[in-house]
Amino acid sequence: MRRPMVAGNWKMHGSEAANSALLSELEMRLQPEWPIDVAVFPPFVYLAEVVRRLRGASVGVGAQDVCAEPGGAFTGEVAGSMLRDVGCTLVIVGHSERRRWYHEDDAVVARKFGAALAAGLTPVLCVGETLEEREAGMTETVIARQLDAVLAMNGVATLAEAIVAYEPVWAIGTGRNASPDQAEAVHAFVRRRIAEQNATIGGRVRILYGGSVKAANAAELFSMPDVDGGLVGGASLVADEFHQICAAAAASH
Ligand code: PGA
Repeated sequence: MRRPMVAGNWKMHGSEAANSALLSELEMRLQPEWPIDVAVFPPFVYLAEVVRRLRGASVGVGAQDVCAEPGGAFTGEVAGSMLRDVGCTLVIVGHSERRRWYHEDDAVVARKFGAALAAGLTPVLCVGETLEEREAGMTETVIARQLDAVLAMNGVATLAEAIVAYEPVWAIGTGRNASPDQAEAVHAFVRRRIAEQNATIGGRVRILYGGSVKAANAAELFSMPDVDGGLVGGASLVADEFHQICAAAAASH
């Protein structure tokens, strides 16, 4: 059985004071014995402090992005080795906001995925279609293209060290989550696509759902057979919501 995971993507939110208050509340509420993995993804500048703060707690820390290059003259960028150096273990690659606002294409995302692994980080690879693509019946075509770029460049074996997140763009920050059936259909498609190249890895890879996950809808989403937890944006900034989502993931195990 795959161990559920709940990942909190803070996006460009937080401050030293707000992070400290949120982490204190989470530490009080999260139960270390729950059979799930929990991680938070703060903005770069807070990573070291959040790692220090969570030392000894069973909550992982990841970054929201990583440079595709290992180091050098790339002003403004952060290398995977630096993320490891400050204690991160995970990194999101290919979030739709990076794809959309910073024009990251499938090839760049595939390189970032490889850079994360080379630095010893677990990539959380985001895939997802826009509303227009869904309405045009293109969902599987888009997901396959995004996934295949990573598989072609890095090889299917790398998926054994990675996590996939299905995040329909139309569901992110909109309050309109995919229905459990819609999510399950795409998760099963992703799993099949990986399994076509390696059945064991396809069966084992964790696929998180992201897009307006809340305490109120987490249990039904996580009850689907191929949904292994959530990548949570807005609700990860509210301790009680995030805690309830983690509880739903634990109950789904
Ligand atoms: P949301 O964001 O939960 O606020 O919809 C999810 C994400 O973008 O990871």
